[in-house]
Amino acid sequence: MTNNTPTITLSNANTIPVVGFGCAFGNWTGGEGMQGFLPEEAWRPITLALEAGYRHFDTAFCYGTERHVGDILGRALAQGNVARSDLFVTTKLAHPAAPPHVAISHRLTWDWRKVDDLAARVADDFERSKEKLGMGYVDLLLMHWPGTFANEDPGFAKDARLAIWETFERFLARGDARAIGVCNFTASHLSDLSDAGRTTPMVNQIEYHPYCQERELMAFCRARGIVVEAYAPFASGAFDLLKDPVINEVATEVGCSIGQVILKWHLQQGRVVLPKSGNAKRIAQNLDLFSFELSNDQLARIDAVQPQEAKRSTVDPATVL
Ligand SMILES: NC(=O)c1ccc[n+]([C@@H]2O[C@H](COP(=O)([O-])OP(=O)(O)OC[C@H]3O[C@@H](n4cnc5c(N)ncnc54)[C@H](OP(=O)(O)O)[C@@H]3O)[C@@H](O)[C@H]2O)c1
Repeated sequence: MTNNTPTITLSNANTIPVVGFGCAFGNWTGGEGMQGFLPEEAWRPITLALEAGYRHFDTAFCYGTERHVGDILGRALAQGNVARSDLFVTTKLAHPAAPPHVAISHRLTWDWRKVDDLAARVADDFERSKEKLGMGYVDLLLMHWPGTFANEDPGFAKDARLAIWETFERFLARGDARAIGVCNFTASHLSDLSDAGRTTPMVNQIEYHPYCQERELMAFCRARGIVVEAYAPFASGAFDLLKDPVINEVATEVGCSIGQVILKWHLQQGRVVLPKSGNAKRIAQNLDLFSFELSNDQLARIDAVQPQEAKRSTVDPATVL
């Protein structure tokens, strides 16, 4: 098992490998089939990812794959193939209730307005996360969303975010979250935390791919020392991004796959990437990114494929108050 993935230093001086394995399995971009998480699809790919050399795993309370990450990494720890300090494990808490057609268990998500004591619920879920992972700490704990998808009360949303963040700050001080961050936060959500004088998140994990470029938010985060992680770096396989003619042309020029070119575009622009694949060849390919470079012209051509209106595989965070 090799491990030579470069790292980025977070604002608390901890380091994070720039490629992490996405551990959300299932279908949430529509289509004919059932929508929701399918954790049973995760066993083999996470095993293959560890064997291919991934040491950074991105899971979440609501994905139902914390147990898979914990069991597979636990077996490698038991065999002496890796040390805990070689691993970087991220999980996420506080996913709002999903729309009914997306079959995500209500036990894994929250209707924020129906939770009496947000701090107690976060603390309880975090204990359950660590139990499923079989770990005493996580390397990164993320708030999954800044609020509920159907909230009409901005005051409530802001207070709820602050209450959850305060709990995260406690975990950081206690040491069982080695770094804390957020997902799906806009500049306005981030400003709510800084205006209240709170700890600046170390990471903002957002949807980012050539058809959904968040350049202003990226610059905002960079100016504040917040590392941006690109989730759905391939748009979750939607919108035919993986057949884009311009990116394919660049792939031919550099002699790599279109997937590798997209990941390299992210890395050269300073983002951590979280690719997910169920295919052994592509799992290995998505980590094999360090023997080629894209030129400024190639990066600019990929920048230019951005459509007028971003194509998103999940909810637009700007609609979350
Ligand atoms: N914080 C959040 O709210 C949030 C939301 C969504 C996702 N995430 C995180 O981001 C991770 C990745 O996002 P995602 O799972 O939505 O999907 P993704 O990584 O953007 O795309 C996965 C799709 O790309 C294909 N693929 C993978 N590598 C490829 C390659 N080299 N060439 C061609 N096709 C390739 C896969 O097919 P094959 O399996 O056939 O290879 C699959 O269809 C998640 O697993 C999760 O950890 C976070």
